Amino acid sequence: MLGWFNAFLLFVLLSFPLAIEINKRWLKGKNKNYNLFLKNGRKIHPYIGGLLVLTGLIHGYLKLGRIAFHTGTLLLIVLALNGLFGLVFKRTRNRTFAKVHRYMGILIVLLFLLHYLRPWYFI
Ligand code: HEM
Ligand code: HEM
Repeated sequence: MLGWFNAFLLFVLLSFPLAIEINKRWLKGKNKNYNLFLKNGRKIHPYIGGLLVLTGLIHGYLKLGRIAFHTGTLLLIVLALNGLFGLVFKRTRNRTFAKVHRYMGILIVLLFLLHYLRPWYFI
């Protein structure tokens, strides 16, 4: 149950860069409602990320009941690390961090697929 809730939160996180891309390519930033939607999206994105780390931890604890190097553990570590990059970007506005933060999103999708398809790969 919680696993799917996590997957949903991840989907919401991933839709943020996609929404930005849609705005750049097709709307050229001209749709006022859409711009407002993105502005709010930017505000809630870090909270959704933080919530995912928290619910991911609870889900992992409920499923595993111990600390082990599971594919989910790796996924959670990378998610938390990416959150850190996001925060550093927010503080410094250094685009390099934004880039790393985005590319790590791709890594996160791959790790999610590994965690879903081969959950016990490391154990
Ligand atoms: C500490 C981190 C985590 C641990 C230890 C963990 C562990 C597990 C385990 C043991 C399973 C059951 C695998 C099986 O079928 O045998 C599972 C399933 C699943 N996990 Fe995780 N997980 C973690 C984090 C996450 C995160 C961050 C996400 C999503 C972004 C996620 C999404 C899912 C999904 C969708 C399933 C399949 C549905 C379900 O059984 O609920 N997990 N996880
Ligand atoms: C799962 C994959 C993720 C993707 C694809 C993603 C994508 C993005 C993108 C595109 C931006 C805007 C930066 C830019 O202009 O390029 C951003 C900003 C940010 N992200 Fe993420 N993110 C992800 C996960 C997370 C997580 C897990 C957290 C926190 C725990 C987080 C926290 C932040 C923060 C704090 C910002 C700065 C917001 C601002 O500018 O006010 N992100 N993210």
